[in-house]
Amino acid sequence: MKAIAQANSNIALIKYWGKRESSLNLPAVGSISVTLAGMKTVSQVHFQEDLREDLLILNGKEALPPETTRVSKFLDIVRETTGLSMYAAVKSHNNFPTGAGLASSASAFASLALASSQAAGLKLSSPQLSILARRGSGSAARSLFGGFVEMRAGKNEDGSDSYAFQVQDEKYWDIHLLIAITSEQKKDIGSTTGMNHTARTSPYYRQWVNTSHTDLKEMRRAITDKNFSKLGELAEFSCLKMHAVAMSSYPGLVYWNSATIECMQTIRDLRRQGSEAYFTIDAGPQVKAICLSAKIETVKSALENTRGVLRVISSGLGGNAALLERIDWNTL
Ligand code: DP6
Repeated sequence: MKAIAQANSNIALIKYWGKRESSLNLPAVGSISVTLAGMKTVSQVHFQEDLREDLLILNGKEALPPETTRVSKFLDIVRETTGLSMYAAVKSHNNFPTGAGLASSASAFASLALASSQAAGLKLSSPQLSILARRGSGSAARSLFGGFVEMRAGKNEDGSDSYAFQVQDEKYWDIHLLIAITSEQKKDIGSTTGMNHTARTSPYYRQWVNTSHTDLKEMRRAITDKNFSKLGELAEFSCLKMHAVAMSSYPGLVYWNSATIECMQTIRDLRRQGSEAYFTIDAGPQVKAICLSAKIETVKSALENTRGVLRVISSGLGGNAALLERIDWNTL
């Protein structure tokens, strides 16, 4: 009753922000992301007779609420589906900073969905696995797949049509991401709280939801046509629109710091000088530059020389989540 799985993190080009239903964690809008190589979570789930509660070791340390509560609630779904009553010992390790807007919940719940369903003997199809991961975190539904991934908002009340699928694999296009870290601090307002607050209080929220279909359609076309300029412009547009709607809530949510804005300027300056790069930003202050592989060095050094940038992580596109036979935790 034990399994190990790994899943890569992902970054949305067309953003998910807002839920149509909370208890099943159903998104109000669809989204399109790229999966990142080398930014992964490895999780081991071991259901055991002798445990009195679920245990969670996160990055080598015993975790506390709210992390443990969130993981236990997730395991309850697996227990309810299988009729299993055992608690589990969970070990989870990220090879990148947690909680600083680098979407650790995406790779965490994707790896947990795969490991826990396998450990419990649940045989799930890809959409069913994505639906399970979505219950942990909306962006996790996308992290099960490599390359370019689309998540459907769906319409069904039971969430049966709200899952992610692969659009193109990681070898399709040599897109590269450079992530400028501008703060290592845990963010104040997590995405779940932030998006619920936005939906409740922003006068622009309806427009955000209504205009999402066009953005998704155009992004699908940009990917099919391998139109990098269009992909980049749409990614910046969706990012700025998401932050604008969050800023327009009451009280307004600002996830950026001054270095975030400096990085946005650096990227637009690069473009003016003929190096094509675009930015996207999630619910945190880190800036993710998108470029083709020929421009990696130029974009990386421009970001490293931007005021307030602590370091830059470089990543190509990554593959599907996978089960592992064994893991040496010391090498992670
Ligand atoms: C800004 O997936 O973290 O990164 O479903 O409430 O866990 P929950 O939210 P989460 O939100 C991700 C928000 C985002 C945009 C995106 O990844 O699409």
